[in-house]
Parts: sequence; structure tokens; C-alpha cells
Amino acid sequence: MEERILDAEEQETDAFEQNIRPQTLSEYVGQKEITENLKVFIEAAKIRNESLDHVLLYGPPGLGKTTLSHIIANELGVNLKTASGPSIEKSGDLAAVLSTLEPGDVLFIDEIHRMPKYIEEILYPAMEDFVIDLVINNDGKSRSIQIDLPPFTLIGATTRAGDISSPLRDRFGIISKMNYYSEDELLQIVMRTSRVFGMPITTDAAREIAKRCRKTPRIANRLFKRVRDFALVSQQEEITKELTDDSLTRLKVDEYGLDEVDIQYLTSLITKFSGGPVGVETIATSIGEEPSTVEDVVEPFLMQEGFIKRTQRGRIATEKSYNHLKIDHNTSLF
Ligand SMILES: Nc1ncnc2c1ncn2[C@@H]1O[C@H](COP(=O)(O)OP(=O)(O)OP(=O)(O)O)[C@@H](O)[C@H]1O
Ligand SMILES: [Mg+2]
Repeated sequence: MEERILDAEEQETDAFEQNIRPQTLSEYVGQKEITENLKVFIEAAKIRNESLDHVLLYGPPGLGKTTLSHIIANELGVNLKTASGPSIEKSGDLAAVLSTLEPGDVLFIDEIHRMPKYIEEILYPAMEDFVIDLVINNDGKSRSIQIDLPPFTLIGATTRAGDISSPLRDRFGIISKMNYYSEDELLQIVMRTSRVFGMPITTDAAREIAKRCRKTPRIANRLFKRVRDFALVSQQEEITKELTDDSLTRLKVDEYGLDEVDIQYLTSLITKFSGGPVGVETIATSIGEEPSTVEDVVEPFLMQEGFIKRTQRGRIATEKSYNHLKIDHNTSLF
């Protein structure tokens, strides 16, 4: 599958991403319940001069988990060290990161569900008692040593909360589920991005991006970036609604935020399989995609927005799909 403009997975870690990341809680749009609680916990940790409780952030890609972790460290006034679950292979790798921590620091572990099991077990005492037990091999003899750590805060991020073992989950004092953003919140994010880049955008243009970005800030910013290119090339000093509509049509992003692959999927489901039920392998093959891609990338949004339903016997198209594709429910059964 080629790179999809509407894919919420991280694709670019360029200066653009760095510049538009909000730095403080007050700049962070939405997720109010989470940020309001965090504000209190951060304040309390500072008053008590203790490290903040460990935090687990989970939710779909591109909703701002990494951004929020940086903000937490920033608001606490401490360093943030990062690691990612799959990159910690040996106990020494974990010990190396832990040994760089200063009192109160934040250790951010991205994709924490992909951490090997034995690393997870070393992490338990680190989280609970700020110690790690390491086995050292020396001249064929192995002995175990215990290393004290300064109090620190572990922030774990994951897109798959279900893949986290319960002993690990239980060691987080603060567990927050990130939600999709409302249109108004996304509008604010786009307006903010426009200010950061000094590229003005009209409110109705920004709202159009907010509508078509799959409720995901990362996609909103990416669409903004592309529309800005169209503005630049056509020498417009402000992004207008007309330019936005035009650019998004050229990028094949429709008014629901569906792209070509989504439309192919729905068209195939309705015209080749009479709207289902049909298995994911069959439909994936019919549009030339991998079943895993269809399941992980294409279907979640279609399901979330009520275009398809998953049943025991396979996927089925809903009325909304027929209406959207302007296919009459009865005439499609040929
Ligand atoms: N609440 C927000 N306010 C403003 N901008 C945001 C917000 N949340 C996310 N963003 C922007 O969206 C982009 C994606 O956010 P981020 O990288 O933090 O997502 P993520 O949840 O860590 O994704 P992944 O699961 O892929 O790691 C960033 O460029 C960030 O600037
Ligand atoms: Mg991230």
C-alpha cells in the first residue's frame, strides 16, 4: 500500500512536526478530562517535591500521546528520556536508560505493549521501589546486583491497551484513554498550526480540514501542510475554503475524510459482494490489499463512522455506505 495521506500513523518526524507540537498544557487542545486531572497531579507532585505517579496513555495513533508526554515533563520542569518498547532488547539496554535518570525525570516508553516480557519484569521493581535487579556474568560466575534508582515517572504510550499485561497495567497510577477530537477542537488545532507557520487560513477553510481529517490532529496538520503547498504554488496569501476544497479533491480526500482505498473497499463490498457479509480476506484480495492492512488501517475508521459493520459471518455495508456512494440498495444486487 502506498503512503496514504489519511493514514494516522507517524510518517514524518521533520521540523514541521517539531514546530507544531504544543509545549504546554494550555496550548494542548482537547482531551480536557485528561489534562485537567494531570494539571492537579502535576501541581501536587511539585508541592510534595515527589515524582509524578506513572502514567499510561492509550488510544489510536496521531491523537497526541507523544506530545502530551513531552508536555508533562515540561510542566514538571524535568528531563524526558525516551525509549521504545521493541528497541529495548536486553536488560542492559533498559539499565542504560534508567541510569541516566535524575530525580523526578520522566522516562517515556513508546509502544510499551511491544516490550519483551523479561524486560517488563525488570521494570516492575523499578516502577514500584525504584530499584533494578541485574544479573551480572563475570568469569563464568553470575551474581545478582541491585541498583538504586532516583524516583522517576514512567510514561507508557500504546495504541493497543488490550496487549498490556495486567501486572504492568496495575503499576500505573494514572491511566488515561485518549479520545478522537471534535470538529471544534480540530478547528482550533488547524488555526493554531496556521499561526505557527504564519500562513493565514479562513475559518471555513480550517473547518473543512477539521471535517475531513478523521478526527485526528496528525491528519489535520498533514492536510494543512498539503493545502498550504497548493496555496504557495497558486500564489495565494491566505488559504480559502475554495482552495481547500479544490486541494482536498485533488488529494482524493472526500467530505467524510474517506480516500480512494476506502471508496474502493466500499464499492467492492457493495457491487461485488452485494453488501456482504463477506470475509476480510476476500474483500482485501478484491481490492489488492493485504488483509492485515485492511483490518488495521482501512476498517477501523469505516467501522467507527458507521459505514460498515462486523458480524459473525463477515463485513456488511450499512445504509450510510449505499447513500454515500449513491448506490440504490435494491439495484446493487445484480
Ligand atoms: N491536543 C493537541 N493539540 C494540538 N496539537 C496536537 C494535539 N494532539 C496532537 N497534536 C499534533 O498531532 C501530531 C501527532 O501527535 P503525537 O505524535 O503526539 O501523536 P501520538 O498519539 O503520539 O501518535 P502515535 O500513536 O503514532 O505515536 C503532532 O504533530 C501534534 O503537534
Ligand atoms: Mg507517538
